[in-house]
Amino acid sequence: MPIRILIVDSYQELSQLSAGFVAEMVRFKPSAVLGLATGSTPIGMYEELVRLHIEQGLDFSKTTTFNLDEYVGLSESHAQSYYTYMRRNFWDCVNIPSDQVHIPRGDAGDLARECEEYEEGIERAGGIDLQVLGIGTNGHIGFNEPGSDFGTKTHVVRLSESTIEANSRFFASSNFVPREAISMGLQTIFRSRRILLLADGESKARAIRQMVTGDVTPQLPASLLKQHADVMLMVTRQAAAELPEDVVKLSGT
Ligand code: GLP
Repeated sequence: MPIRILIVDSYQELSQLSAGFVAEMVRFKPSAVLGLATGSTPIGMYEELVRLHIEQGLDFSKTTTFNLDEYVGLSESHAQSYYTYMRRNFWDCVNIPSDQVHIPRGDAGDLARECEEYEEGIERAGGIDLQVLGIGTNGHIGFNEPGSDFGTKTHVVRLSESTIEANSRFFASSNFVPREAISMGLQTIFRSRRILLLADGESKARAIRQMVTGDVTPQLPASLLKQHADVMLMVTRQAAAELPEDVVKLSGT
């Protein structure tokens, strides 16, 4: 089944529509298992979900979440850990019980065991109903860098130079960006029942074009999603800037 593509005019629209997509899942199935992403792209989506919670009573009390990834070596309390990001942008702002949120522990003593237990936790929860994804400028999803094996489960990954560079904006300099991360694997992500991939900004335009028009290849991890039965690609006009005309025509709001 071809990927569904929705091109929106602004980041605000991307945030509202993606939050609406997640909210619909939570209303339809209050005990939904959500896979969540970090990075700058979904910040507006979280803001909107928090607004829906406060103003419309969107209820997360039965929802379970699993985050995609975490930097190796950063403790939960580190300002740039994804744990801190999630608390600040979502967990602490809605009524989700703390024992229902999950993120790999980047400072675990035994990383291999942490990965195994994380994967088992997802399975025990019944698998992911809806996985939200961003995309790296090099086409990575989670922290599965180009060349990643399509069969991987939650594992320790070495970050590519381009990802370290792209993420250095959150740190004092690229020297402070951890070199490794724990990430759900491509197979973990692929097994989600539904996937929503968000992209904004010109820096993503090339990866989005390659994903939509190119072959399925480990060199562009996001291309694997073309083999998934239920993927929605929600992108702003800037991120869609390199898509061919005929694709754009069919993909407006
Ligand atoms: C990081 C995260 C990804 C995210 C990507 C894009 O590398 N591990 O999950 O999708 O960055 O981030 P941004 O949304 O900030 O461009």
